[in-house]
Amino acid sequence: MASLTTTAPLAAIGEHVELFTVLDTPPTVLIVDGTELNRRVVKATLSSIAPRFLEARRPSEAFEILRSERVDLVICDMFLPELNGMEFCRKLKSERATQLLPVLMLTSVQGSEHEVDGLTSGADEYLLQPAHPNVLRARVQSMLRHKAALDSLDEVESILFTLAQAVEERDKCTSDHCRRLSYFSVELGIRLGLGRNDLLALHRGGYLHDIGKIGIPDSILNKKGELTAEEWHVMRSHVTRGEEICRPMKSLEAVLPVIRHHHEKWDGTGYPDNLRGGQIPLLARILQIADVFDALTSERPYKRAQSASDACRMLEDEVGRGWRDPELVPVFVRMIEGESDEARMSSGLRAMARSLNHH
Ligand SMILES: [Fe+2]
Repeated sequence: MASLTTTAPLAAIGEHVELFTVLDTPPTVLIVDGTELNRRVVKATLSSIAPRFLEARRPSEAFEILRSERVDLVICDMFLPELNGMEFCRKLKSERATQLLPVLMLTSVQGSEHEVDGLTSGADEYLLQPAHPNVLRARVQSMLRHKAALDSLDEVESILFTLAQAVEERDKCTSDHCRRLSYFSVELGIRLGLGRNDLLALHRGGYLHDIGKIGIPDSILNKKGELTAEEWHVMRSHVTRGEEICRPMKSLEAVLPVIRHHHEKWDGTGYPDNLRGGQIPLLARILQIADVFDALTSERPYKRAQSASDACRMLEDEVGRGWRDPELVPVFVRMIEGESDEARMSSGLRAMARSLNHH
């Protein structure tokens, strides 16, 4: 396979999101309303913008449909059998599979307090009935456009993840490295009490940290002998190349420090910025411990796999050399050795984890 020597086309993917936003199937609108007449009126009003309609009389029916059908927009009444519209909205927004699904709440109840209630329960838009047909159509069209943009972002992300796996297969001898790296990093993050966003950044970082290697020629990436100083220079650029590739994606913002700094060392001898100690972002320090551990416990053509406990001793040895975080490595080692570290975690580490949760 010819190697890509520039990251420019990849960086451009993020800027060309709209090019990927072509809707080849009509968008699907799920109408949740206990009254048949209301459902019919909404359908008639929206028929000119030609979506596909699905109907549910109550929330339980709506959730059943959502489990089996692709839906782009939910229109619901504020008053529904079983759960009211607000509870229904909250439930939709609390589930991962439906949290990005836009919800338009339609109601005949006047009063700004109801509007506030509707929006705080997670509805993206709120419209009083009877709404002017043009207003309803315009709102729905705008929400569907927004949903299409979100979908294309997902697609761009999945393209990046696929590329990252291609890089891994080219570079590493085991295609499972990224998956394990994600797993160990997230597990360590959980033990440190990190919040959902940080855990998600660790999960993504596990897959994307080496994506910049896509720009490193095979002759350097797979070279059998020692790299020359110049080749090392190119090899080390994978961290900044990776950051450039992922920078256009807003959703990957929290992953950028992980990508850039996963080769820094605690004593300041790493790259690219010679950061030391606490200057190195915590998520990058977590990922690199998991990375070293997985490299040590994996078999390669030139070496046998170490046992988990030997790998833990080597990580501790790296702490002794000044390379790794002396507080995180013991937490990781206890995690691998199956001990609970809750009680032993230092107050400094807890405070750091807490502050990360609030940023
Ligand atoms: Fe790397």
